[in-house]
Order: sequence, then C-alpha cells, then structure tokens
Amino acid sequence: MLSDRLQDAINQQINSEMYSAHLYLSMAAYFETLSLTGFAHWMRLQFEEETAHALKLFDYVNDRDGRVTLQAIEQPPIEFESPHTVMRMALEHERLVTDMINNLYALAVAERDYPSHVLLEWFVTEQVEEEKTIRDIVDHMDIIGNDGTGLLIMDQRLGDRVAEEAGAEDAAAE
Ligand code: FEO
Repeated sequence: MLSDRLQDAINQQINSEMYSAHLYLSMAAYFETLSLTGFAHWMRLQFEEETAHALKLFDYVNDRDGRVTLQAIEQPPIEFESPHTVMRMALEHERLVTDMINNLYALAVAERDYPSHVLLEWFVTEQVEEEKTIRDIVDHMDIIGNDGTGLLIMDQRLGDRVAEEAGAEDAAAE
C-alpha cells in the first residue's frame, strides 16, 4: 500500500497533470482565434496527452489500494502575447513538471516504494521527450522570427501531429 505521504504527492501530481491539460487547451483556444489551426491541433493533442498522464496516476493509486482525491484546477492564462510566447511558456511549464516528477521519484526512492519507482521511470522518460519536442519547436520559431510565411509552414507541420496510441503508451508504462 502507498504511504500517506506518497499518496498525497501523487494526488498533487494528478492535479498538476490536469492543470497542464487545462493550460494546453487554453493555448489551443488562443491559436484558434488566430486561425493557426495546426498549432491549435497540436495543443489539443497535448491536452489529451496530459489527461492520459493524469489518468495513468489515477489508475495507479487505485491499483495500489489508495484513495484518489481530486482538487480544484487552477485557471490557466487565457491571453497570450504571440505564438512564440505561447511555445516558450509551454517549454517553461514542462521544465517545471520535470522538477515535480523528479521530486516525486526522489520520494519513491526515499520510501523504497519499488512499484512507484517503476511507474515514475516512465514519467521521467516522458519528460525528456516532452521537453525535447517543445524545445525543437521553440528553436524553429526562433529561426523564423517574424516571418509570416515561416509561421504558416510551421502551422502546417504541427497540424500533421498524430495522437499517440493509448495502447503503445500503456505498454511502455507496463
Ligand atoms: Fe504530463 Fe507534459 O507532462
């Protein structure tokens, strides 16, 4: 069974993942107002991915005979300066999430909770991927600067993103 401390920390992480989902959906709404439908699509898939992360933790707490306690989700920003700012904010946010996951992992190590190690290893790896993906987008946006044509090409590219298969993600976690 999970310790109370670890259970509380995982419940907190569920809330953080739900906030991430909320944040990215808010970013999708912003991109829709600019008719940057590729960026909006990318953010919407990001919303789905974050929801899947929350549910992975939700299921884990239940599998360990724990108790999920949901909390209020903070309101995300609704106005953004520019597409570039949005992606920079997304990168900063993912770096923050990486810190949270690392802290959670450290707690599992300190408590010698091996099943939690295994679960959290998946999240540690996922954060490397999350940061790299968004960092690449930010780098490309730095290159195009204020070039509108470049932005539209980028929009087209992000519109090609396909959803991760839920089964593949589960297999990676198991
Ligand atoms: Fe759930 Fe984007 O980390």
